[in-house]
Amino acid sequence: MTTTCSAPGKIYLFGEHAVVYGEPAIACAVELRTRVIAKKSNEITISSDIGTTKLDFDMHPYVSSAIRKLGSPDVFIEITSEIPVGSGLGSSAAVTIATLSAINIEFGLGYEKEELAKMGHEIEKEVQGAASPTDTFVSTFGGVVEIPSRKRLNLLDCDVVIGNTNKGASPKKTAKLVQQVARLKEEHPDIINPIIKTIGSFAKQGELMVSQKNYTSLGKLMNVNHGLLDALGVSTMELSALVYAARNAGAYGAKLTGAGGGGCMVALSDSPREVAEAIEKAGGRAIITRATPEGVIQI
Ligand code: MEV
Repeated sequence: MTTTCSAPGKIYLFGEHAVVYGEPAIACAVELRTRVIAKKSNEITISSDIGTTKLDFDMHPYVSSAIRKLGSPDVFIEITSEIPVGSGLGSSAAVTIATLSAINIEFGLGYEKEELAKMGHEIEKEVQGAASPTDTFVSTFGGVVEIPSRKRLNLLDCDVVIGNTNKGASPKKTAKLVQQVARLKEEHPDIINPIIKTIGSFAKQGELMVSQKNYTSLGKLMNVNHGLLDALGVSTMELSALVYAARNAGAYGAKLTGAGGGGCMVALSDSPREVAEAIEKAGGRAIITRATPEGVIQI
């Protein structure tokens, strides 16, 4: 038997960084997926774009940790992905969840999705040192989700355009940026704490706008959220250039997504081609995608 599972990446509509301090956020699974094939074998093999290894915690840290978490069964794993790696779109969560899920089914281990999401979060923490459960939760269950309540909101009806700066994002960078914000917060609590609270308040307002499909207002709030992330020092010139290009091309709104410092921005739009073209002209790599209700699935 062979089992293939796929799990989605995600964007943040609101709330990255503030979510680290317990503020609410809204994340959204997108139709960019990582596929993992698992097949019983007589040894452990992991094959991906970057090479073929045995358990290898340097080259394949997430997949190796997922195999170990499930008792190190002899399995052949093959990974293919549409999610740019280490760019704030949850690529590591998607490969972790798809691997856990494919091995779970292939070996009949009987874990529930909730348990796989929890294991996925533990693996991200082991590999990265720190991680919020957002990425692994959204990759497991899909949809538009408020964090930490896990409330499922309406799916977005408009297109999602992602702009990749192709620069500088990685799990290590995430940890560095989270620390950088923590330092700023310690140095200037009176100024930074209200900014973090305000970022948290977007999720409540945004929830209403998502349910009313009021993308004009949702986009305006995304723009304000980007301004506040810039104030926290996590945007870059390249990210902001793509954000402005998307807005000028008629997007409802645009902001960086994930930890920042490079990586990706996201725009909502009903004219995705124009927005994608503007992003490419401004030096980014554009991807047109949609929100997806589907988390990890067997295919
Ligand atoms: C990174 O994708 C989002 C941050 O809020 C960190 C986290 O939530 O783990 C910056």
